[in-house]
Amino acid sequence: MIREAIITTLAADGRVHITPLGYREQDERVVLAPFVPSTTLENLRARPVAVLNFTEDARIFAGCLTGRRDWPVLPSTLSPVPRLAGALAHWELAVERTIEHPERPQFHCRVLARVNHAAFTGFNRAQAAVVEGAILISRLDWLEPSQVASEMRYLQIAIDKTAGEPERLAWAWLMEAVAQHPRHGAHAQGASV
Ligand SMILES: Cc1cc2nc3c(=O)[nH]c(=O)nc-3n(C[C@H](O)[C@H](O)[C@H](O)COP(=O)(O)O)c2cc1C
Repeated sequence: MIREAIITTLAADGRVHITPLGYREQDERVVLAPFVPSTTLENLRARPVAVLNFTEDARIFAGCLTGRRDWPVLPSTLSPVPRLAGALAHWELAVERTIEHPERPQFHCRVLARVNHAAFTGFNRAQAAVVEGAILISRLDWLEPSQVASEMRYLQIAIDKTAGEPERLAWAWLMEAVAQHPRHGAHAQGASV
């Protein structure tokens, strides 16, 4: 089972990097698999520590994929890596073992601390739609424009029916990223004529 979280890592020079990342659990360890190349991968190699942040703020998922990476953070308890200020909970991780792979190395991590901050108040379809939309946006360079357009149209239903203001804003950022992409933007314009 893979769950989607926001990972915070530290660059060699101490800069905080925030990005959405899937994770899975295996033998009481957390497994992270950042693609080659990515900043998260570089950071985990430079400093083998991370924080997994669990948040329902869809803006962070959409924002990180559309150049809006500056989200408020707070100090963690044991880790030098800060956690998201808006996290419902966070886990502080230390890399224990790295399994090398040319496209997707795996980092198996021990959990140093698990901290809860606020209650989970239920699923929201628009938040799930933003997460799905953000995944589409992360793959614009190799997905077909017709597929992206049709999946975004379907996801839009959940936005229209169930979104609050943060989800609407997050969705607008994703739609803007599609419109500005050379291949996908041209397709959308062609479709509307
Ligand atoms: C919900 C979600 C899950 C993601 N999971 C992963 C992942 O497991 N591994 C990965 O390399 N990128 C993943 N991505 C894509 C990265 O967030 C994105 O490509 C990022 O810009 C590249 O990583 P970087 O910021 O560390 O350079 C995911 C994106 C989303 C929206």
